[in-house]
Amino acid sequence: MKILIACEESQVVCKAFREKGHEAYSCDILDCSGGHPEWHIKDDVLKYLNDGWDLMIGFPPCTYLSHAGNSALKNNPDRKFKQKEAFDFFMKLYNSPINKICLENPRGWITQLFRREDQVIEPFEFGESERKRTCLWLKNLPPLMKGPVNPEGMRPKKIIIRKTGQRKGGNYGYYYVQGKKAKDKAKTFPGIAQAMATQWG
Ligand SMILES: C[S@@+](CC[C@H](N)C(=O)[O-])C[C@H]1O[C@@H](n2cnc3c(N)ncnc32)[C@H](O)[C@@H]1O
Repeated sequence: MKILIACEESQVVCKAFREKGHEAYSCDILDCSGGHPEWHIKDDVLKYLNDGWDLMIGFPPCTYLSHAGNSALKNNPDRKFKQKEAFDFFMKLYNSPINKICLENPRGWITQLFRREDQVIEPFEFGESERKRTCLWLKNLPPLMKGPVNPEGMRPKKIIIRKTGQRKGGNYGYYYVQGKKAKDKAKTFPGIAQAMATQWG
């Protein structure tokens, strides 16, 4: 299959599909960090939506779409404008002429402005040790089957790792890593990429 991985610089998903023999390309306005520039389109993904793809998996930016920034939205026309831009970008990807589509974002404004997600997944449901609630909007794709579940990730825990490396632990709450850079936090978990490539490839 000819596959477009939209808004991906890490190439985690692109490489998982390549390993299964597909012609997959990542596309991002940033250089790729996955080590395969020959499979990377460094440009605005909107220019490539009509290029005859069989499947697109997209990770559009969520900075202005997640509920985390809600308080900053109030009485802030600049932020509201950026939210509209981000929502329009998401919808251009969703409405592109590609038969099979999966778009990923946290639960937030998409749910209110468009519709509820088709599936909610957690990295620990795909063998990873972290929690990060993630929503998928699907077109002509079945929901991802979960497994192998990592029991470590299921156990609620509150761990704060400070930038200095100091670790503060408790017995409840969520896994939270303070030291991670935003770019690293946005990278797709390999367990989820493997499930996508195996089940949708
Ligand atoms: C939430 S991050 C997703 C990162 C991804 N999960 C990965 O593993 O690389 C959103 C990405 O969208 C990219 N982006 C923003 N606008 C874009 C555009 N018009 N065309 C292509 N990529 C874009 C950003 O540079 C950023 O890398």
